[in-house]
This record gives sequence, C-alpha cells and structure tokens, in this order.
Amino acid sequence: MTLSQKIADLKRRMREASQGGGQKAIESQKAKGKLTARERILALLDPKSFHEYDLFVAHAGKDFDMDKKFLPGDGVITGTGTINGYPVCIYAQDFTVAGGSLGYAHAKKITKIMDHAMKLKVPIIGINDSGGARIQEGVNALAGYGDIFYRNTMASGVIPQISVILGPCAGGAVYSPALTDFVFVVDKISQMFITGPEVIKTVLGEEISKEDLGGAKVQAQITGNAHFYARSEEECFEQIKQLMSFIPWNNENKAKPFPKKPPKRQYKVDDIIPVDPTEPYDVRNIIKALVDDSEFLEVQELFAPNIVIGFARISGQSVGIIANQPMVLAGVLDVDSSDKAARFIRFCDAFNIPLVTLVDLPGYLPGIDQEHAGVIRHGAKVLYAYSEATVPKITVILRKAYGGGYIAMCSHHLKADFVFAWPTAEIAVMGPEGAANIIFRKEIMEAENPEEMRKKKIEEYKDKFANPYVAAAYGYVDAVIEPAETRHFISHAIEISMNKSESLPKKKHGIPPF
Ligand code: HXC
Repeated sequence: MTLSQKIADLKRRMREASQGGGQKAIESQKAKGKLTARERILALLDPKSFHEYDLFVAHAGKDFDMDKKFLPGDGVITGTGTINGYPVCIYAQDFTVAGGSLGYAHAKKITKIMDHAMKLKVPIIGINDSGGARIQEGVNALAGYGDIFYRNTMASGVIPQISVILGPCAGGAVYSPALTDFVFVVDKISQMFITGPEVIKTVLGEEISKEDLGGAKVQAQITGNAHFYARSEEECFEQIKQLMSFIPWNNENKAKPFPKKPPKRQYKVDDIIPVDPTEPYDVRNIIKALVDDSEFLEVQELFAPNIVIGFARISGQSVGIIANQPMVLAGVLDVDSSDKAARFIRFCDAFNIPLVTLVDLPGYLPGIDQEHAGVIRHGAKVLYAYSEATVPKITVILRKAYGGGYIAMCSHHLKADFVFAWPTAEIAVMGPEGAANIIFRKEIMEAENPEEMRKKKIEEYKDKFANPYVAAAYGYVDAVIEPAETRHFISHAIEISMNKSESLPKKKHGIPPF
C-alpha cells in the first residue's frame, strides 16, 4: 500500500471504531435527551484539544457469542485534553455500545488513563453512562471495577477526581464516583443505585421508579452523594469548567490566581445581618459581599442546607468557604451538615486551598433522632478535619458561636490562624435563655415575679457573655472588627499566610471517625 492508501485505511478504521453502537442505539440515546459519549467530551473540553487513545482496543469477551461482536472502543472513550487551558485526562462510557457495560478491555482503558493522570499529575474526569459490570464477562468485569476502585483510592488527595453521572450508574459501579471528589448529576438523566428496581421488586416486592430510587434530585438533595445538580448536560459542563477554575491540577500546586476584583455593589455586609440577633438571614449574601466579583460556586447546594460550602476567590486567590446558614435550622451542625463540611475541608486541605469559615450557630442539633443517627461520630468529623488541616485557616464569628459549635467551627483551639469576630458576636457555652434557666434557676423560682427575674437574669448573662470581648480578652479572638472591614482582614490574612508551612506528627495515617 502507498502512504496515501495507508492513510485512507487509517481513516476508514478510525471512522469504524468511533461510530459508537450504530444508528439505532444512537437514536435511542438521543431520545433519552442524552448526548453521545464523544459529543460529551467535545462539549466539555476546549475546542480541538481532545486527543483520543486506545481507539482500536478490542474487547475481550469470548462467551455467549461475544467473540462474534464488534464493540467499538469496547464502550468507552479515553484521552487527554484541556479545560480553560488546564490539562485533564478523561474517559466517557458509551452507552450505545453494549450499554456502556464494563468488560475487561473497557476497564483496562479506564485504568490506563487513570494511571496516566497520576503520572502526569493532572485531574481525571470520568463520565459514567453504563449498565455496570458486563454480565457476559463475569469475574473479569468485577476485577475491572476493583482495579478502578483501587486507583480512585490511590489518587485521592493527589489529583482532583471528578465523576459525571450521565445515565445509569448501577450496582458496584457507583463506588467509583463515591470514591472521587466531586459527583455531578443531571435532572432526569442521572441514576445511581446499588440495587435497581427489578431486584427490589424481586427481593422486597416493592415497586419503585429509577428516578425515585436514585435520580439526580435524590442524589443531590437526600443522599448527598452528588455535589452538583444541573438541569441539562450543557449546564453540567459549565459547572465543571467553573469548578476547574477554582482548583489546582494536583496536590503539589495551588489554584491559579485570578486578577483581583471587588464584590458586586449590591452586596453589602452591613445591610445583610439583621439587628435582631434571633432573626435569620441568608449567609450566601454575606459570602457574596466578601468575595471577588461576588462569584460563589456552591457545592452540595441542596443537601444539608444548614451549612453552606463552596469555592470563591478573595483578592484573586481561591478559597474554600464553610458557613453556617442561619436561614435553615438556625445553622446548627447535625449529622449531614457535619459530613458535608468535613469532606469539603479535607478536599481544600489536600489541594492547598485556604479555608474561610463564617460562624453563626447555636451548636449541635439536639434530639433523639440526631443522637441515634450518630451526631457524636459525625460531628467529630468536623473537629478532625479542621484540626488536621494545615492550609491557612481564617475564621470570622458573625453572631452566635455557642457550645461545641464555637469549638468546631475552626476556633483557635483547632489551630485557626486568624479568628476575627464582629461586635455582634456572642461566644458562650450556650444561649442566654438556656444558660439563665440553668444557672439562676433557684433565684428565678424563689423570686416574687419569676418571669421578671428570668428576664433580668437573661440580660445579666447577655451583658457578661453574649459578646466577643470575653473571648478577645483571652486571645481566642484576634481582632474584633467592623463587618465592613471583613474582606480587608480576610484578604490580608490570606496574603500573609501564603507561605504557611505546618506539618503533622509523623504517622502512617490518622483514624478519622469515618
Ligand atoms: C451487559 C448490558 C448490561 C450489562 C445493559 N446491557 N447492561 N450488557 N452487561 N450489565 C446492554 C443490554 O443488554 C442492551 O443490549 C444495551 O446494553 C442497552 O440496555 P437496555 O436494557 O436496552 O437499556 P435501558 O432500557 O436504557 O436500561 C438500562 C439499564 C438496564 C437500566 C442500565 O440495561 C439494566 O438494568 N442493566 C443491568 C444493570 C445492572 O444490574 N447492573 C449491575 C451489574 S452487576 P442490546 O444488545 O439489547 O442493545 C454489577 C456489579 C459490579 O455492576 C460490582 C463491582 C464491585
């Protein structure tokens, strides 16, 4: 063959290998409102940046007439590219080829690109759209998942790992996303479950739809398995691009700094915090009043909304923000909000992103439900994550900081670098009402007018403790600041902490309260 014939042959082979599972399967994919695997990669990556590898890998199935089948790319596309100029490794399962099911060669392609990502120290993005382990390939399919889970674990904290669920993600397959850092889901397209509706019907005799069992909303709102929820695949890709702008390539780098920008004019801290200390407000408006261009990428927005977490920039530097949300359950820490915050803190710490904590909470949520759900064990995760974090840690106490909540929300005792408090801060063992009822019970009971006495004692307690000055007198608060100065103080603290270096005691690893 001449060179031009060989090139024509190559092109023909490439066309054949990248055709997916054929017209019918592609039409069925489109009818479900889904893009094809290749379209997804091209939509997510920078134009012309995608380079595909292992296009000609052949599938390894031999039983059930599998050897007679042609499965292009073995149902998964792998390669490298860039997002906003940042290098990434990527794979996308192709549901049009054998339902994107994972056989031996399919898994080998994924583990190879994961190994690449680890060697090149760049993020790995996995687009999941699959019926799970390829049933015809038996134990080789299971082995493939095991190989992926192992790599997910090894890559954890080394390179960012992003999972995008754009179709079914069933059975053991769900554990790869669960081991990664961020899971993206799309309304009416994503489904995640260990056991599907068929099995549930057989075993439990219950009928349930895929959507109700593990659809996007369920994963984003109820289970907390998903970190980002989008209404369309396009919106999901925009969210991924935005996330990538806040995080570094790997744990040896910092996120790329951006030009400094002031917050938008409509957000002013002074206007947001209510005069009445019992009145709720939306802490997201405070965040927007503090961060560059008021741009805040909220993580797990729908799950445990009593705590708000997400990425922003202050003076051009990426920061992770953790803020109690007084609008929901008064911003208490409970089982879910503790899990949510602790994991986020660990991500930021692993990837050199400073932590900014905004405190306004009455403490941990009381009650039998929380105690039985393990609020002790889960709440401890927050203490562990903050204590262990060595990135710059800046805390601002806006209003209430009572009891365990005061300690847990990155107090000096957990080695915050800077703790600032507004004059509205109330730092004490518990709220004035509860405290007065306990410590002045006798006086209140014996008074001629107990109600009047109660009020008097509450005021007495407030005067003594419900302020930031007692904590400031012990040095637990570094500076009591005017709310309008907050951005300036945080910004300075971040700049001055740029070269912070702190190491943990030598150990193989800690034993966090998982
Ligand atoms: C082989 C599979 C497959 C699988 C789907 N297909 N899942 N082939 N192994 N696991 C094939 C179908 O046979 C079909 O092939 C094509 O993919 C499209 O599937 P449909 O069923 O027609 O699509 P749809 O109606 O959209 O339903 C999608 C689905 C369903 C919900 C994912 O296919 C399904 O329930 N599949 C099995 C899911 C499951 O239980 N997986 C767990 C496996 S066990 P044709 O040739 O007809 O087009 C597991 C354990 C791993 O994963 C443990 C690791 C630790």
